[in-house]
Amino acid sequence: MYRIMVTDRLAEPGLRMLSERAHIHLAPGISYEQLLRSIPEYHGLVVRSCTRVTGDIIHAGTKLKVIGRAGSGLDNIDLAAASSRGIQVVNVPGANTLAAAEHTFALLLALSRHVCQAFAHLRDGGWDRSRFMGIELFGKTLGIIGLGRVGTEVAKRAIAFGMRAIGYDPCARAPEGVTQVGLSELLSTSDIVSLHAALTPESRGLLNRERLNMMKPGSLLLNTARGALVDSGALYEALQSGHLAGAGLDVFEIEPPGKSPLLSLENVVATPHLGSATYEAQVRCSEQLARRILEVLTL
Ligand code: MLT
Repeated sequence: MYRIMVTDRLAEPGLRMLSERAHIHLAPGISYEQLLRSIPEYHGLVVRSCTRVTGDIIHAGTKLKVIGRAGSGLDNIDLAAASSRGIQVVNVPGANTLAAAEHTFALLLALSRHVCQAFAHLRDGGWDRSRFMGIELFGKTLGIIGLGRVGTEVAKRAIAFGMRAIGYDPCARAPEGVTQVGLSELLSTSDIVSLHAALTPESRGLLNRERLNMMKPGSLLLNTARGALVDSGALYEALQSGHLAGAGLDVFEIEPPGKSPLLSLENVVATPHLGSATYEAQVRCSEQLARRILEVLTL
């Protein structure tokens, strides 16, 4: 029987499907060194974004046939090493789309109406209704960087809110209702910029200091994609100086971010990489991934 190690959380339905056909070893939070030592025993490895599947792990996995990524981003897996060893890497790109798009709006609404700060104030016994003046989304321009699945769903929701949606993506056409523009135009004209691009060597640091400076004064930034798309030091400065009015962050350059200076800012609303954290998305993701892994193992 095949042996599969699962190093990040995978929902019950998918685990059940896998365990009917293979021995499953759950190893959440396994250290990098332990993974390197144990991987030679396994035919399959299932990860989310927490586990780094480096070339060394892949080369040590002499029996490995498949790496399953519960989610869409493959930036934590050395794809070149996997392909050189003939190991299939499978993911489930659509499974988290709605959850990620909705979470983007959760952050946007929380940010634009100071929900988190106002709740903290109320809990401390405060009742200062003039301190938390927000902005309406209606009529604002949302600039979407990355017009794939999540970017497209975010655009639909923006349009439902009466926003103007513009988008930038060098590899995809703008969906209906979204005006495609260049990156500079998007940055300089959007009231809110939302990142939905994959992390690749080309997109790493996409929002560097120069591009953050191009953003409209007083605008907001949302990042539910990948932390490393943004230069976090430059973002801190842009938020602290007030050039940007706020940021909604679900992802960080280093996760967990520990005591990242960004978390100390009053104009930041942040969550611990919860974009895909809905019951529905996790069930969908686990079932689709289990099916794809079993297809590879039974070839
Ligand atoms: C994704 O790439 O789909 C998400 O980041 C998955 C996750 O939550 O780890």
